[in-house]
Amino acid sequence: MNVGIETLGMYIPRYGLDLRLLADARGVDPRKYLHGIGQEIMAVPAPDEDSVTLGANAAAEALKDVDTSKIRTLIFATESGIDQSKAGAIYIHQLLGLPADCRTVEMKQACCSSTSAVHFALSTVALNPDEKVLVVCADIARYGVGTAGEPTQGAGAVALVISAEPRVMEIGTKVGYHTEDVMDFWRPNYLDEALVDGKYSIRVYLNALEQSWKRYQNMTGATFGQFDHFCYHLPFTRMALKAHLHLARLEEAQLDSAALEHQVDPSLDYNRRTGNAYTASLYLGLLSLLDRPELDLTEKQIGMFSYGSGCMGAFFGGTVLAGYKEALANQDRAKLMLDRTWLSMDEYKTFYSHELPRNGVEYRTDRYRTGKYRLAGVKGHKRLYEKVSVPMTQSALIQDSQKSSVS
Ligand code: HMG
Repeated sequence: MNVGIETLGMYIPRYGLDLRLLADARGVDPRKYLHGIGQEIMAVPAPDEDSVTLGANAAAEALKDVDTSKIRTLIFATESGIDQSKAGAIYIHQLLGLPADCRTVEMKQACCSSTSAVHFALSTVALNPDEKVLVVCADIARYGVGTAGEPTQGAGAVALVISAEPRVMEIGTKVGYHTEDVMDFWRPNYLDEALVDGKYSIRVYLNALEQSWKRYQNMTGATFGQFDHFCYHLPFTRMALKAHLHLARLEEAQLDSAALEHQVDPSLDYNRRTGNAYTASLYLGLLSLLDRPELDLTEKQIGMFSYGSGCMGAFFGGTVLAGYKEALANQDRAKLMLDRTWLSMDEYKTFYSHELPRNGVEYRTDRYRTGKYRLAGVKGHKRLYEKVSVPMTQSALIQDSQKSSVS
């Protein structure tokens, strides 16, 4: 039986910060951000967005042509959870109007839980071929203002429908794993920003790649040359090039640097213009590759490496299916990337420092540009979400909650 990705949907915040502005404000040569780390734009969530709304907006796109009565499992992978007990998946389930006969759960292991969710989903479908699983990955990457991590911030979400009727990609069930207890990046419960040992995290990532790849090879007999393209977890796009060169050296691949770059470069575009989206990053990279109009990837083999700090790595492979472009025609992602409101540094600071009250008072969030779903406010320590009936256009802020209806 073939199992894999039936379709995908993506969402990124409607606001972005050009990293040239950030470089200027931080007194850094912009070439460091644009070329040294390979990032151009940081996606900045509006104050009325959180991981739940990002995820619900991506899932709404993924589900456009899908029979939702067959979805009996919803897995939400995030490290930007909104509650220690209740799964963000339950809010997403409600917003999307999914059947009550559904298992609904949230998973965590830094950026890598999305890949574990995908593989749990594949096993579920292999056992129950009539069921579909919705995997939603959504995150907001947030570091301290003025820290080395700041230019790698970002946000975004990808939702995948995993089923026994894959239309986009068949995914192999063999995975090479590497788990090791390290402190390269973490966020204690009492902090809103991640802590990171940046240079160390890069070394740990590369080691996790090497170990996961070797285990994958031992298990499957795979060779470096069998893959046409590679997608890596993308905390920043230069990381993928470092990772790919590392693997190529390890395998003594006889390819020149242009050929090696071509294996990775098509997967970098969305992340370069979004920033780190933690759990969603690898799958934003996959979509970036699949959406390339000049490439026909039918029957091409894709090597994928997922990394989550702390740490866990997973290497696996997939084969792109004939007709994948039609299966992905559910959404105009080129428009989603371009149609954003560009923030000044002052607006970025305002967005960054926005906080919800923590004392239980009733609070309505001002209305900003969002997708279909937004965070309307909080009341009695409970988050209130709503469906937006009239989307906002280029205006940065309209304090007009008449245009939306609480669901
Ligand atoms: P840094 O100290 O600001 O930068 O930290 P740098 O001095 O290392 O410079 C970066 C690159 O820019 C270097 O290139 C410089 O040479 C180059 P490299 O040597 O690496 O090839 N450079 C320039 N290039 C052109 N023109 C110039 C110029 N100046 C310098 N003028 C760092 C960079 C990535 C460490 C920092 O941004 C950071 O800490 N980021 C957050 C952590 C991170 O992303 N780690 C990645 C691995 S861990 C991971 O992926 C997991 C994660 O996603 C979380 C999760 O799992 O949940 C983060």
